[in-house]
Amino acid sequence: MQQALKQEIRELLDQRNGILLAHNYMRDEVQEIADITGDSLALSQEAARTDKDLIVFCGVHFMAESAAILAPDKTVLLPRLDAGCPMADMITADELVRFKAEHPGVPVVTYVNSSADVKAVSDICCTSANALKVVDSLPDQEIIFTPDRNLGQYVARFSTKTFHFWNGYCPTHERLKADNITKLKEEYPEALFVCHPECNPAVVALADHVCSTTGMYDFCRKSTARQFIIGTEAGILYRLRRENPGKEFVIASPALICPNMKLTSLEDILAALTTMRPVVSVPEAVRVPAKKALDRMLAVPRD
Ligand code: 13P
Ligand code: SF4
Repeated sequence: MQQALKQEIRELLDQRNGILLAHNYMRDEVQEIADITGDSLALSQEAARTDKDLIVFCGVHFMAESAAILAPDKTVLLPRLDAGCPMADMITADELVRFKAEHPGVPVVTYVNSSADVKAVSDICCTSANALKVVDSLPDQEIIFTPDRNLGQYVARFSTKTFHFWNGYCPTHERLKADNITKLKEEYPEALFVCHPECNPAVVALADHVCSTTGMYDFCRKSTARQFIIGTEAGILYRLRRENPGKEFVIASPALICPNMKLTSLEDILAALTTMRPVVSVPEAVRVPAKKALDRMLAVPRD
């Protein structure tokens, strides 16, 4: 059944000259048929460079919006329009404009987990993979950082700049508590704890390594350790286990499931490809300034 669905999806993708991009948190079967799986940064870069006519974005709304901003000549489908991101919803463009007015002249660094409207009133975007490099790329001593207070505080640990944080957070990562880690470390004393910077600072303080989701694949592959406690959304386990058959991965909490990232099914993808809906697009008045903030981020060297 799944096999037939997968085949139909791949055939339609070929017919429509499409590419299927999937975030590292997607369901296993969606990751399995994707052309590219990756973190927010890698998927934005792929959307910007693909020569396909159609991008089927399996992720959440802000990611499909970023693809539509970067590739306006392509059709971008988001199979589940209701796949949002509660963190992105924690700030509006009007709220950011008012926050900027409280700190005149201070540049705004906005995590890509934000709406196109918010990006449009920001100076530069960042992802969890490049946030420190983005902050360092700015000559200014003061920074407004939105919307993720946890990522902001993590970056601030490595910077001498003064930060003004927005009080947003990821409800999924916030559910992971320091207690979960101390208990698991007793159970798995040899394991390394690797977590995403969206985790609470009390959790991040216990980590052996902090990185984006794609950063976790690299770290766990290169590490000589055999056991890892994983502090991010459980979808990441699919590739971690497949790429490292001799290693053990333990999710840091059963609560690390993002309901939005789990919405998209193979049936949804097939329906989207059949009907060519729902399309995500961004009006030019928003797209152009939002693209400026994304392009500025993409110009910051990764290493
Ligand atoms: P990456 O920044 O690793 O893509 O994942 C963060 C996330 O929560 C995406 O929603
Ligand atoms: Fe948003 Fe968190 Fe889900 Fe990522 S994991 S989409 S930040 S709610």
